[in-house]
Amino acid sequence: MVRELSVELCGVALDNPVIPASGTFGFGKEMAEIYDINILGSISFKGTTRDARFGNATPRIAECPSGLINSVGLQNPGVDAVIAHELPELRKIFRKPIIANISGFSIEEYVECCSKLDKEEQVAILEVNISCPNVHNGGMAFGTSPESAAAVTRAVKAATTKPVFIKLSPNVTDIVAIAKACEEAGADGITLINTMLGMRIDIARRKPVIANKMGGFSGAAIFPIAVRMVYQVAHAVKIPVIGCGGVSSAEDVVEMMMAGATAVQVGAENLRNPYACKEIIEELPYVMERLGIERLTDIIGIIE
Ligand code: FUM
Repeated sequence: MVRELSVELCGVALDNPVIPASGTFGFGKEMAEIYDINILGSISFKGTTRDARFGNATPRIAECPSGLINSVGLQNPGVDAVIAHELPELRKIFRKPIIANISGFSIEEYVECCSKLDKEEQVAILEVNISCPNVHNGGMAFGTSPESAAAVTRAVKAATTKPVFIKLSPNVTDIVAIAKACEEAGADGITLINTMLGMRIDIARRKPVIANKMGGFSGAAIFPIAVRMVYQVAHAVKIPVIGCGGVSSAEDVVEMMMAGATAVQVGAENLRNPYACKEIIEELPYVMERLGIERLTDIIGIIE
């Protein structure tokens, strides 16, 4: 029997629900050297800000059991360079709809990035990142209260006709309240979760491993937290959810979808195994067959 992997996000048809998470796949070109990335459902590209950013001081990666901490600090060439150079290059190697991940340090900056990317035909969805834990006065600062999350959502919705997904932080006490505030402010979907704030100490040097002291912890270790939060949010809102956080296998994709995700992002696993998304997509039909799943859409949110 043919297994149906396709899903739809706000009218955007995806051949399958597997999407590399922002910041783990760049703008696709390095990965395209090792496999045909057109196998992917979509790509969420590296978090883009109005101005070019060099990122945080190094070291900015700390390996951990079952995961890693990053404090990259939104390194990117800035939205104008992304539009002028990265997107034309990406278009040559990837023929499908893409997700533009946007970060900012003020509401005006989010709006400027969104309205510029709104004009890009291949951009199908704007993913507004209000959850980066690695910068001061931006990123996560907008995602830790329902009021500020709603204010960003309202402003970017007025600047684009494309579907807007808000990417939420797990570093909050009530993720449902924040997701609902975004939905009420007009969000078309929610992506969750971004990384958990973490820290490692080099006990020989008696110093934090990361120059910025703390960073975002991701990888397989956070998967159960992500499933829990996807379940809570997906059952509280009517808009679609993209599940993210520690996804490492085709079974994890199925679990995330049963919790309520319509599509699933793979993040840190791409850094451990660059073939992760390809292997997950190839494995999915076999896992579906074993579990008696004909269409992936049949299992979205089946856990009550
Ligand atoms: O620091 C970074 O570039 C990470 C961004 C994020 O987690 O959203």
